[in-house]
Amino acid sequence: MSRIFLTLVFVSVALYGCGGGSSNKNSNATASTSSSGENSSANNQSSSSEASSPSTKGQLVYEKPLGGSRFACADCHALDETGQLDAEGFRRAGHPIGDALRRPHFKNTQLGTFVDAANSCLDEWMGTNITWNNNSEDYLALKTYLTTQDTGNGDAPALTFTLKTTDTPTEQGRVEAGRITFNQTCAVCHGENGEWANNPRGIDIRYITNSAADAAAVASKVRRSGRSNSDVYEGLVGGIMPFWSAERLSDQELADITAFLGAATLNTGTTPGTPVPTPPPTTEACDATSPRIGQMAALRTLQHGVSGTATIVDNCTIKITNFNYDGQGVDVEFYASPNIAEFAINGGNYYSITPNRNFLRQSQPYVNEEITITLPAGSSVDNLGAISLWCVDFDIDFGSGSFQ
Ligand code: HEC
Ligand code: HEC
Repeated sequence: MSRIFLTLVFVSVALYGCGGGSSNKNSNATASTSSSGENSSANNQSSSSEASSPSTKGQLVYEKPLGGSRFACADCHALDETGQLDAEGFRRAGHPIGDALRRPHFKNTQLGTFVDAANSCLDEWMGTNITWNNNSEDYLALKTYLTTQDTGNGDAPALTFTLKTTDTPTEQGRVEAGRITFNQTCAVCHGENGEWANNPRGIDIRYITNSAADAAAVASKVRRSGRSNSDVYEGLVGGIMPFWSAERLSDQELADITAFLGAATLNTGTTPGTPVPTPPPTTEACDATSPRIGQMAALRTLQHGVSGTATIVDNCTIKITNFNYDGQGVDVEFYASPNIAEFAINGGNYYSITPNRNFLRQSQPYVNEEITITLPAGSSVDNLGAISLWCVDFDIDFGSGSFQ
């Protein structure tokens, strides 16, 4: 009985998860697709604003991606909002945190202190190894900054968030309304109008058509993205994109955004079914100062015939030569971690360095090919000890190796 059950689980993973290859997405991405670029709001400070007062330092803690993360607190939390928009005109996925130090509890009562809530985000949303305690320098600086910015006093009300189902909303979507809402919400990470040229992080969503399957994929991603074995959120589907709760995005707004994304003419440069073009080249040349340059990792075969050799080329480039893979996964991305053991840990410290499900083409196998990965802004080769070809939806290592 239990063996039958296990077999069924395995088969369904193989069909609908990483093993299927039955995706209906356009999947002709070129292998040299890179994912690099500017980090949106997080990069705006100049080096001359380096910390002197604790409050200035706290502002950096809030605005800078910490610990090699791709995101900063500020990417997902405004300090405050007027009519759901922050000072930059965005609505972030998480609630504002300007008064959070005065709240009685966090994350739907599951966490009792601000520092625990921050640690949960540092781990699950930012993918860092950082754990603050009440005396941590960065935590104290952030606390000072939030306190100096906070004009209220006394107890602040606890907030709640409601995780929606992954069902496609039944509301009728409106394209133009969706464009406006997209630009207030999703554009923080996916670029104004979803256009590649505006895309700050190289996450391509232009392939989305107006098919029911794509609408379902968008709904699932928006409503339930996040670490699937999370300690504080139930039923997330994987990924580092934050989910949008009922409080942060209505079903009507989701339907509107989906209609907008499905209207291919708005997605400059592509119509459904055409290959995803190569992204614009990085404007900044990459330094070649890291002592890690030249280190190599041999990908050991675990699943789907993965093999190849990864080499650190410069501070932001990894080349994979003699790459083999049967192409049968759905959302398969290259992941990095400080050491190879992390890939074997459920919810370990690993993160995507090619955050785009079309980075690799699907269905057609790779045979001794060469692939170039440009690390996303915020990632560094310095703390990159191992690399894996990773099945995102099911957290499975298809093949990995240690740099040495
Ligand atoms: C990639 C997005 C993301 C990043 C980055 C992020 N968070 Fe969060 N955070 C969330 C989401 C999603 C929630 C849960 C939903 C909500 O509160 O609206 C949350 C919840 C919280 C809460 C609980 C709010 C409450 O009252 O329940 C706090 C506090 C918080 N985050 C602080 C931080 C801090 C501090 C940082 C930076 C160190 C940070 N977060 C980074 C996405 C993020
Ligand atoms: C804080 C950054 C952030 C915001 C805001 C954000 N996303 Fe994402 N999104 C990502 C990242 C990163 C990925 C890559 C997959 C992953 O790891 O989750 C992604 C992936 C996706 C995908 C799947 C692409 C693929 O093929 O894997 C869709 C669809 C998507 N986002 C839609 C949206 C929509 C719609 C919104 C607005 C309601 C939105 N996102 C807001 C960061 C973000």
